[in-house]
Amino acid sequence: MSKNDIILKAEGLCKSYRMGAADVSVLKGLDLAVKKGEFIAIVGASGSGKSTLLHILGALDRPDKGIVRFEGRDLSRISYSELNRFRNKMVGFVFQFYHLLDELSVLENVFLPTMAGKSILGWLACRRLAKNRARELLSRFGLGQRANHKPFQLSGGERQRTAIARALMNEPRLLLADEPTGNLDSATGNGILEVFEELNRAGQTIVMVTHDERIAQRAGRIITLADGRIA
Ligand SMILES: Nc1ncnc2c1ncn2[C@@H]1O[C@H](COP(=O)(O)OP(=O)(O)OP(=O)(O)O)[C@@H](O)[C@H]1O
Ligand SMILES: [Mg+2]
Repeated sequence: MSKNDIILKAEGLCKSYRMGAADVSVLKGLDLAVKKGEFIAIVGASGSGKSTLLHILGALDRPDKGIVRFEGRDLSRISYSELNRFRNKMVGFVFQFYHLLDELSVLENVFLPTMAGKSILGWLACRRLAKNRARELLSRFGLGQRANHKPFQLSGGERQRTAIARALMNEPRLLLADEPTGNLDSATGNGILEVFEELNRAGQTIVMVTHDERIAQRAGRIITLADGRIA
């Protein structure tokens, strides 16, 4: 395997949280390499640090020690504006509780990441294309008839499919998902997994956190977090 096959590499990640007088050490020198096109499930007990790790991998949080390299670049060494660009363009996030904006329509939620990364003029220049892409994504996920709904008018599975469409809007190199089926019944969760499997077959790299073994089995590789490292 050549070095170029690695999209994301974490080395020696340490993270602790200060709680009153004590430091709670969550990650203790964790190493992880993600290859392009992989579908990885991260499992581990509640409190083992799965969300903490995912946030660090997506540059939503920084480690106390250690480095994260994305396509070879050390994320702790890039400027603030580059980091914003990275978050907006290189990674897509899907969360357990969707985090959709109820004031916006489903369509607006989906194209928001594109709008957020542009100046007003930049947005005016690309908004037709962006809206078309958002509509395409919604149709692909069976939500073509829901574009003008508000998120609160959708079922849980529909909300999560909207959130996946939003995460894919800017064609991220890496899709990160934290318990994407955690709030759904098993049939609906299965539907979400099918979406992930199809995306992965088309080449999308995915790192998903779950504490459901059956869900994890569907990924190409399962890694277990225990005692602050990969077990
Ligand atoms: N902002 C914070 N401040 C203090 N402690 C925190 C903070 N965030 C997380 N922790 C602690 O770090 C540990 C790991 O939390 P994390 O959310 O990463 O676990 P998790 O594996 O995702 O758990 P779950 O499966 O319940 O979501 C927990 O003990 C938690 O209490
Ligand atoms: Mg968590």
